[in-house]
Amino acid sequence: MIKIVTILGTIRPGNYTGKALAIIENEIEQHDDFQLISIDPREFKLSIPGSNIDASDSKHLQTLIEECTGLVISTPEYHGSYSSLIKMVIENLGFPSTLSAKPVALLGVAAGQIGAIKALEHLRSVLSHVGAIVLPGPVSIANVQAVFDKEGNCLDDKVEKRLRGSATGLMDYIRGSICPKIALEAMVRE
Ligand SMILES: Cc1cc2nc3c(=O)[nH]c(=O)nc-3n(C[C@H](O)[C@H](O)[C@H](O)COP(=O)(O)O)c2cc1C
Repeated sequence: MIKIVTILGTIRPGNYTGKALAIIENEIEQHDDFQLISIDPREFKLSIPGSNIDASDSKHLQTLIEECTGLVISTPEYHGSYSSLIKMVIENLGFPSTLSAKPVALLGVAAGQIGAIKALEHLRSVLSHVGAIVLPGPVSIANVQAVFDKEGNCLDDKVEKRLRGSATGLMDYIRGSICPKIALEAMVRE
């Protein structure tokens, strides 16, 4: 099974980022060749970079990333950028980063009318810097309160299609570009 990790970029109770991410996760779960590993950073005791208190949860997180073939990273737009929670996650993934050479699909969610454009630009820049393969076509959801109801149902068919398309785009990229590379490298080693 090909492992895909999803990372939730907020801990806000009732957050909308999680509602949007759930649709991407639902799409991944419908494909038998993929296994979904859903990461809620609240479940990890991540340390402030440099504090070096107890790195065991950071190591656990790094192992999950190492073992996956691709990721979906989600973030709310907070103050014109991505969330500090996602920066905290990135900074707990080692230097050099375990994200290096991993394909990543991006999701940004915003209350405002321009969507999560700035959050996604900044996140793309940092992820590219650490060596991740950031896939084109990030999903940016604007005016999110009008897009999901309280139960998490998506009220906009076009947004739901884009979310599901983000998942299938990542899976297609992994099947078409990453799996053949892994198979070829294994053959060369034999
Ligand atoms: C600290 C903070 C900063 C925010 N900054 C912005 C912003 O710059 N632009 C924007 O459109 N929405 C902003 N928002 C609203 C969020 O985009 C909104 O809460 C949205 O629902 C996504 O976040 P959520 O996943 O936590 O729900 C901000 C919210 C918080 C809590």
